[in-house]
Amino acid sequence: MSNNLLKGKRGIITGALDSNSIAWKVAEKAYEQGATFTLTNAPIAMRMGEINKLAEQCQAKIIPADATSTDDLENLYTQSMDILGGKIDFVLHSIGMSVNIRKKVPYTESNYEYFAKGIDVSALSLHKLLSVAYKMDAINDYGSVVALTYIAAQRVYPFYTDMSDIKAMLESICRNFGYHYGLKNKTRINSVSQSPTKTSAGSGIKGFDSFYNFAGKQSPLGNASAEDCANFCITLFSDLTRMVTMQNLYHDGGYSSTGITTAMIEDFNKANQ
Ligand SMILES: NC(=O)c1ccc[n+]([C@@H]2O[C@H](COP(=O)([O-])OP(=O)(O)OC[C@H]3O[C@@H](n4cnc5c(N)ncnc54)[C@H](O)[C@@H]3O)[C@@H](O)[C@H]2O)c1
Repeated sequence: MSNNLLKGKRGIITGALDSNSIAWKVAEKAYEQGATFTLTNAPIAMRMGEINKLAEQCQAKIIPADATSTDDLENLYTQSMDILGGKIDFVLHSIGMSVNIRKKVPYTESNYEYFAKGIDVSALSLHKLLSVAYKMDAINDYGSVVALTYIAAQRVYPFYTDMSDIKAMLESICRNFGYHYGLKNKTRINSVSQSPTKTSAGSGIKGFDSFYNFAGKQSPLGNASAEDCANFCITLFSDLTRMVTMQNLYHDGGYSSTGITTAMIEDFNKANQ
C-alpha cells in the first residue's frame, strides 16, 4: 500500500545483494512510496547480476562503488545527483562484512588485518559516505541517513566476534556525524538495530539458525523481518520523523527490553526434566 510518503524524494540505497537483503526490501518499499533512487554495491557483488532485477523493478540505475573508496563514493554522489536531478534526500547504509567471521576466527584470536578490513568496510564506510556528502554538499536540508546495526554493539554475543566492536563504532559515527550534519543543514543520522534476519550476511554467522530461533522466542512480537525493517526505514526517510537524529533505534519485536519470556522458561524446564 502506498501513502506516497517519499514522493519527490531522491535516494541512494547501498547493499542490495539478493532478494533476501534488507536493502532489497528497502528499495521495493521506497519505490512503492514514490521515491526515485540509485542502487549501489561493491563491483565484486554485482557478478551474480541479481541487482539488475531489482533495478528494473524499481526503475533505478545501478552505480558500482566500493564503499571503502572515497573516489568511488564521490562518483556515486555525482552520478546520483545527475541521474535523479538534484541533491539527495535519503541514504541507506546496509553494508557489513567481517573476514574474521567468514573464516571462523574466534574473538580472542582475531586476525588484525581481517579486523581492520572489517572496520573499513562495515564502519568507516559510513564515515566516508557522510564525509564525502558533507564536502560535496550533496544532501538536502532535513535529509535522512540510516545505517543498520545489531545489539551486539551493547551486549555480548560471542559468535558475533569483531563485528560487535565494529557495530559499536558504526553507532558512534551516527551520533558524532549526526551532530555535525545536524548543525550544517539538519540532516538526520540514525542507526536501526535489527533482529537477526535470514540474509547472506546473517546466515554467515556461526550458529545463526539456533540464535534466530532463540531471539524469536525471546521477543514478545517475535523477530522483525527484513520487510518490517524496510517499513521502519521508510518512516525514518519520510518527513514524519524530521526531529529524530543521533539515535540507535531498536527494531526487534521487543527483544532489547525483555529479560526472559515464558516461552523461554518453558523450553528451559523441558530441557531439564
Ligand atoms: N542479517 C542480520 O541478521 C542483520 C541483523 C542486524 C543488522 N544487520 C545489518 O544489516 C546490513 C545489511 O546486511 P544484510 O543482512 O541485508 O546482508 P547482505 O549480505 O544482503 O548485505 C550486506 C551487503 O554489504 C555489501 N558490501 C560488502 N562489502 C562492501 C563494500 N566494500 N562496498 C560496498 N558494499 C559492500 C554486500 O555486497 C552486501 O550487499 C549489514 O550492516 C548487517 O550487519 C543484519
